[in-house]
Amino acid sequence: MSRYGSKENRYLIKAMDAFRNRLIVVSPEFEILVANGGFGGMTTDEIVGKKCHRVYYDRATPCVECAARQVLETAKSAFQSRSGGPGEAESMPCFYAYPIFDGDRIEAVVSMDFELPPRSEIEAKLQRTNALLRNLILSAVDGVIAADKTGKILIYNDTAASVFGYSVEEALDHLDIRDIYPDGGEFEVMRRLRADDEDGRGKLSSFKVEVVHKDGTRIPISLNAAIVYENEQEVATIGFFHDLRPILQMKQELEKTQLQLLQSEKMASLGKLAAGVAHQLNNPVGGITLYTKLVLEEYDLSDDIRADLMRVLKDAERCRDTIKELLEFTRQTRHLMRPHDLNRAVERTLFLLENQSLFQNIEIQRNLSDSLPRVSCDIQQMNHMLMNIILNAAQAMGGRGKLMLRTSLAPGGEQVRLEICDTGPGIGEDVLPRIFEPFFTTKEEGKGTGLGLSLVYGIVENHGGRISVGNRPEGGARFVVKLPVDARKQKGADGER
Ligand SMILES: Nc1ncnc2c1ncn2[C@@H]1O[C@H](COP(=O)(O)OP(=O)(O)OP(=O)(O)O)[C@@H](O)[C@H]1O
Ligand SMILES: [Mg+2]
Repeated sequence: MSRYGSKENRYLIKAMDAFRNRLIVVSPEFEILVANGGFGGMTTDEIVGKKCHRVYYDRATPCVECAARQVLETAKSAFQSRSGGPGEAESMPCFYAYPIFDGDRIEAVVSMDFELPPRSEIEAKLQRTNALLRNLILSAVDGVIAADKTGKILIYNDTAASVFGYSVEEALDHLDIRDIYPDGGEFEVMRRLRADDEDGRGKLSSFKVEVVHKDGTRIPISLNAAIVYENEQEVATIGFFHDLRPILQMKQELEKTQLQLLQSEKMASLGKLAAGVAHQLNNPVGGITLYTKLVLEEYDLSDDIRADLMRVLKDAERCRDTIKELLEFTRQTRHLMRPHDLNRAVERTLFLLENQSLFQNIEIQRNLSDSLPRVSCDIQQMNHMLMNIILNAAQAMGGRGKLMLRTSLAPGGEQVRLEICDTGPGIGEDVLPRIFEPFFTTKEEGKGTGLGLSLVYGIVENHGGRISVGNRPEGGARFVVKLPVDARKQKGADGER
């Protein structure tokens, strides 16, 4: 019994017939030998014996793009997809063909077709996928930028536009990837991308690099990048990045707060120490003053001794004043807190100082807000604070320059802001961190105690305010004091009207 006995034959024929699509066997001359059904209004019997190109496409000669023809040329199975056969405007019949051998010779070719979904459906799906990808990229929180090997921008999203300042159209039209890296930074990025380091070849993660905004500002970013390969050839690079400025700013603010905390802690302990010492000294100094006065009053003394004792008395009084200042510095009570107009305090201090010789060649520029809310404060302490800052400025300028005072309501409306600037030499980097320390002075011995600004610091803190100091870009020092606006909003309580 042959391998294709009548039973197998029957099943083979049934299998062919059951195949949903067309299946034919053609001779090397493209003559249909067997078909699994009729086609184009013709029965199976009518098809058999005819040329396939005639039956399928009503052509006189074999089709150029023909899977069967490819099989005959290559002696291998072949696959061909084409669009639009007769009556199949939208569908895409795909032909799969393979050879039947008789020894080495191709005896016949089996050709079957099946249909891919209509092209419009594939295109719609592709379009949907593309639109989704596009939206994903455009709406990504991270910036996305991709460029081809020539540097032309291929992908650029809204976040990238906000970081670099170029609109999406501008970037796609004429931006070059090299324009966004300062000082040839793209070479470093490419070098790292191509290196076999821990990120792997063609990849770069969390790389901190600077880029340039359209206006020239340099912006630190963290970059994840990859090289896009096609057939092992570099075709593009793509980068995902985020702007590091908000993080860096937050870090700076945290460091500043930490420093402020340290500073106030230091001040508090130094204050306690100073208060203790001051109290200890108060009584003996009082004793020295009292007994010296008694001796001066009760004894008949020679002029020399009297002069010496007067000197003792004067020095003891200086000690008493310093002790008073120290106690003032550490004073925690707020029993003289009243709503006051800070502008008036500024004017009063300037009035006292303006006529002094140190201020003869100093131009004073007032910029005082005329709608400044009052602050709740001890006016003596405010005077003290202003006096110290202004005197320091005048001393730093060596009595020649410009003193600028500005008051305003700080953004948010909860604090009054006082800014005092000068055109002196500014404050050295080494001085800045120590400037509020008690007894810190750069003045020669006998010229300054170094208590001025530590007092100022204590006063501002006691009032629930903040003081900061720095240098102006154009030179000179800048002190900024912020004090809380008086919550009670009383009017004229200080009788200053
Ligand atoms: N406007 C300023 N410009 C430059 N340096 C300043 C300015 N204000 C203060 N300083 C620096 O800060 C230091 C500390 O100032 P602070 O007022 O505490 O003490 P002092 O002025 O040296 O002494 P004192 O005020 O007790 O007479 C000064 O010695 C000076 O170096
Ligand atoms: Mg001073």
